[in-house]
Amino acid sequence: AAVHFHEFVIEAKPVKRLCRTHSTITVNGQFPGPTLEVRDGDTLVIKAINRARYNVTLHWHGVRQLRNPWADGPEFVTQCPIRPGQSYTYQFTIQNQQGTLWWHAHSKWLRATVYGALIIYPKLGSPYPFPMPKREIPILLGEWWDRNPMDVLRLALSTGAAPNISDALTINGQPGDLYRCSSKETAIFPVEVGETILLRIINSAMNEEMFFGVANHKLTVVAVDSAYTKPFATNVITIAPGQTTDVLLTADQTPAHYYMAAHAYNTANAPFDNTTTTAILEYKSAPFSAKKGQSLKPIFPQLPGFNDTATAIAFTAQLRSLSKAKVPLEIDESLFFTVGLGLINCTNPNSRRCQGPNGTRFAASINNVSFVFPRRNSLMQAYYQGQPGIFTTDFPPFPPVQYDYSGNVPRGLWQPVKATKLLKLKYRSKVQIVFQDTSIVTVEDHPMHLHGYQFYVVGSGFGNFDPKNDPAKFNLIDPPERNTIGTPPGGWVAIRFEADNPGIWLLHCHLDSHLPWGLATALLVENGVGKLQTVQPPPLDLPRC
Ligand code: C2O
Repeated sequence: AAVHFHEFVIEAKPVKRLCRTHSTITVNGQFPGPTLEVRDGDTLVIKAINRARYNVTLHWHGVRQLRNPWADGPEFVTQCPIRPGQSYTYQFTIQNQQGTLWWHAHSKWLRATVYGALIIYPKLGSPYPFPMPKREIPILLGEWWDRNPMDVLRLALSTGAAPNISDALTINGQPGDLYRCSSKETAIFPVEVGETILLRIINSAMNEEMFFGVANHKLTVVAVDSAYTKPFATNVITIAPGQTTDVLLTADQTPAHYYMAAHAYNTANAPFDNTTTTAILEYKSAPFSAKKGQSLKPIFPQLPGFNDTATAIAFTAQLRSLSKAKVPLEIDESLFFTVGLGLINCTNPNSRRCQGPNGTRFAASINNVSFVFPRRNSLMQAYYQGQPGIFTTDFPPFPPVQYDYSGNVPRGLWQPVKATKLLKLKYRSKVQIVFQDTSIVTVEDHPMHLHGYQFYVVGSGFGNFDPKNDPAKFNLIDPPERNTIGTPPGGWVAIRFEADNPGIWLLHCHLDSHLPWGLATALLVENGVGKLQTVQPPPLDLPRC
């Protein structure tokens, strides 16, 4: 297995989009950032050098980081931030993962521009479980703001209102030619007639789940979140922030130019970015070139409506793991987590800081606890050093009261409690978590991401989870293995995994407007009493708070 060394210099660079140039936080001057290519079993050593004016950390989304939480990256969870002028080296090995993952900043809203693909090929000499594609293309879906995303967040947090929606969606950092001033800002992918290519699609957008399709072309899904799936053909994929989907596409249509396009899948009763981003699949033998500005119009794909939940759910329901899954059959810890928004009442509703609905501030919670990130130390460092007062371990395994979660929720339940509560799990325990969306403020699809783990998605449904009848319908044979799963709007989703990775692992909604509002908790998986004996000691250059 190889060792790959990289230097990631995090620095501001001018980036021009939609006719305006912005000082944008980048890695090595690139936006999106560099693509990392490794094989299963390889080690990555990445020195992150912070030359920006913000604190930063980097997260390797979906990498299991077995016994190695120090390389995971979420700010104030597994490490203190890398201050401007300082550096930290992330070192980790890929163990039994193949396909597509990605990396991103895990500090405030820096991930809006600090992100890139992480491609994991099979071990040398092992083939893909599908025909070898002629070429491979990472497709990073993103969002672009006509202003500094850090200022968008700061404004939202200072008023308590929802953050401004983005000004464009992007494919590989380019909005595509349907926006003002964007005719030259289109990613173009050339193909030869008849060849099959692999698209490694990553939703790196901040707040938008998306539908993605390519005009006139079928997509054959072969992997999600670095785990292979049974192949199936589809016209459109649904992909939530944090998720990846690998699809094969055969260039078997009349030589021409075809748009690939993505727009939001949004179920919340609130404003969202309703624009469409495009890139061009360009058959090399096609008669005209879009690049030369000639009038050939690419063919446009049909995408589902913005709130087409039926299509989104039907897509997700087709996902099956390729090989027989190792799903825990007996469960030691059965957890039920309500996920959703909330509102915090203000003593002075006219205050500048209470510009949310009816003079409140937005919040979000799991089981009515709105997670507060610590400031004085990271959770892992505090735990490892035995420093008290940074967190408690009394996160409730169930909501404080039972109610009709997806129905008319009593006002008394709208106000979450702010705290830094962790949920303790025994090493090697078999865990089931049911995520239940609530209709507090609005029903919404919350993409839940668990750090340090891959889990099996064993079931989902609409309405309230029924603990008597729903488990009988679970797929315990070949459920998909993922690191991020959308909670159906007004519904529930159930996951299972074995707690085989000691450490402290963040669990959160991957809509970045919900993370600072508290839609998170952390799992403390410990081996032995109060000590993570099997975790490697912290690297010497681990930043201190
Ligand atoms: Cu992709 Cu906690 O993040």
